[in-house]
Amino acid sequence: MVHPIPSSADAPIGVFDSGVGGLSVLRHIHAQLPHEHVMYFADSAFAPYGAKTDEWLVQRAIAVTAFLLDQGAKALVVACNTATVAAIKAVRTAYPSLPVVGVEPGLKPGAAATRNGTVAVLATASTLRGEKFLALREQISGTNGTRFLLQPCVGLVERIEQGDLTGAETAAMLKGYVEPLLEQGADTLVLGCTHYPFVREAIAQMVAERGDATPVTLIDTGDAVARQLARLLEGAGLLRPGGTPAHLHGYTSGNAAALQQQFANLLGLHPEVKSVVV
Ligand code: DGL
Repeated sequence: MVHPIPSSADAPIGVFDSGVGGLSVLRHIHAQLPHEHVMYFADSAFAPYGAKTDEWLVQRAIAVTAFLLDQGAKALVVACNTATVAAIKAVRTAYPSLPVVGVEPGLKPGAAATRNGTVAVLATASTLRGEKFLALREQISGTNGTRFLLQPCVGLVERIEQGDLTGAETAAMLKGYVEPLLEQGADTLVLGCTHYPFVREAIAQMVAERGDATPVTLIDTGDAVARQLARLLEGAGLLRPGGTPAHLHGYTSGNAAALQQQFANLLGLHPEVKSVVV
């Protein structure tokens, strides 16, 4: 099927993730580009992405992009580290004229922030074994000697999807993943999955309760992604001017009421949400 890319500044931006993780990116897009119409697609029927193969992620990312283009998207944000690492190249090849922004674990900001040279990266298992990710890690380590500790956080996406950001089970899981990293000397934690900013406070609290002398920096790239999106739109002449109010539409391959509730709980937003088959 042919998908013409809209060249109208009034067209919406398409954003997708396996579930609610991309909402942590959406809040930065809203803050920096308040005049833009946005469509958010949560692929909840297929979450989590972290356990999927690269081949599956490529096919799925292309299918979801086609869906968002059918709804009139003028640009795409792959608001998921896992899908970006596995599939953004294929999406760009399939839709060469579509402005596309991805999310990758903040290795460079992590290396810039660390004071003792040890940076831990929390992400899904797929992200951490991605070729692109591993090549960047080698490059940065080779240049400035940063030691990266990689921690797949199996099960954490599911807890966040269930809305458990501060409960005992999530706290225990975070402790199990983060404490060994601190004990190995990490002074910087990269939140390399878009779901994880929603447990940023819980991590910060856990770190504070340990009372270590070394302060710990948490890195999230949502802000940088929104800035890159603004640059791309501006470069393409696609920035929507203000005037009439901007719209937000939610789509999900899962349950519409559940996504509506998650929008309200996580961002305090109340968009119309439709359940769709993609
Ligand atoms: N939020 C996604 C990421 O940034 C995907 C998590 C998942 O579905 O496993 O990696």
